[in-house]
Amino acid sequence: MSIIELKEITKIFEGRSESVKALDKVTLNVDKGDIYGIIGYSGAGKSTLVRLFNGLEIASGGTLKVLGQEISELKTKELRAFRQKLGMIFQHFNLLWSKTVLENIELPLKMAGVSKIKRKQRAEELVSLVGLAGHEDHYPNQLSGGQKQRVGIARALANNPEILLSDESTSALDPQTTDEILDLLLDLNRKLELTIVLITHEMHVIRRIANKVAVMEKGRVIEQGEVVELFNYPKTETTRKFVQQDIDPRSEDTSEFVMKVLQKNPTARFAELIFNIPDQSRS
Ligand SMILES: Nc1ncnc2c1ncn2[C@@H]1O[C@H](COP(=O)(O)OP(=O)(O)OP(=O)(O)O)[C@@H](O)[C@H]1O
Ligand SMILES: [Mg+2]
Repeated sequence: MSIIELKEITKIFEGRSESVKALDKVTLNVDKGDIYGIIGYSGAGKSTLVRLFNGLEIASGGTLKVLGQEISELKTKELRAFRQKLGMIFQHFNLLWSKTVLENIELPLKMAGVSKIKRKQRAEELVSLVGLAGHEDHYPNQLSGGQKQRVGIARALANNPEILLSDESTSALDPQTTDEILDLLLDLNRKLELTIVLITHEMHVIRRIANKVAVMEKGRVIEQGEVVELFNYPKTETTRKFVQQDIDPRSEDTSEFVMKVLQKNPTARFAELIFNIPDQSRS
């Protein structure tokens, strides 16, 4: 069942002297339970696309239904209520620095008019769901990047959304922390049947947890489908470059080997072993 349906969506930003076509006839469907990756270089239109999903931007043309609702038909007040069905996480976490972990998570509940006791109860549940038990009273600057993003995720889930939008949520994290956060998202997808739309410029992110992917370039979706299919048969040069990016760039032989392994098993992981063999001739 599709819970996000876009047909020929166009978005034009009108400037004083010129206008920018940020989205050009984008058609795609996200099904319930998908982890749908959207990948593209800077300026491709990825953020604009997800900002349409929760009505932060309004399309210039085309139709967009989210959870069966045509977004352009919602009035301001209805839109505010509707937005609670979508959570969002960001690259720089967007936490309030003067509030504790628990207070940050309680914020969207407060805005939704949930009572103080229920807010605290729900926030405590979320703290343990995202693996932050013991940090309830800490301030964001006392947390690591990964922990800050866990707060971001807990806050996004506070109102039990059906869809989680993630805009480069791991781009500010080191590789190991990135993987930990991706594993948490996968876990939430399974446990809560949460649909996730995942924006990234890294193929690694897609390969690790997404089941579907759309490749964007200059406001257009140039390729879309199952991640496995896309890995096996990239049709465009841009997609090929993204697939290649996820593979050891240093050696052509290695790349070829890795490519073959990935075609058979797209979720394979690779480790590099370096042997230091002492130079016998010197001793
Ligand atoms: N509010 C705005 N007003 C005018 N132009 C905008 C606005 N928002 C985005 N754009 C333009 O739309 C295009 C797409 O931008 P968008 O932020 O969606 O790209 P992106 O794929 O998210 O890039 P990045 O990877 O750098 O975040 C760009 O040319 C951008 O300059
Ligand atoms: Mg962006």
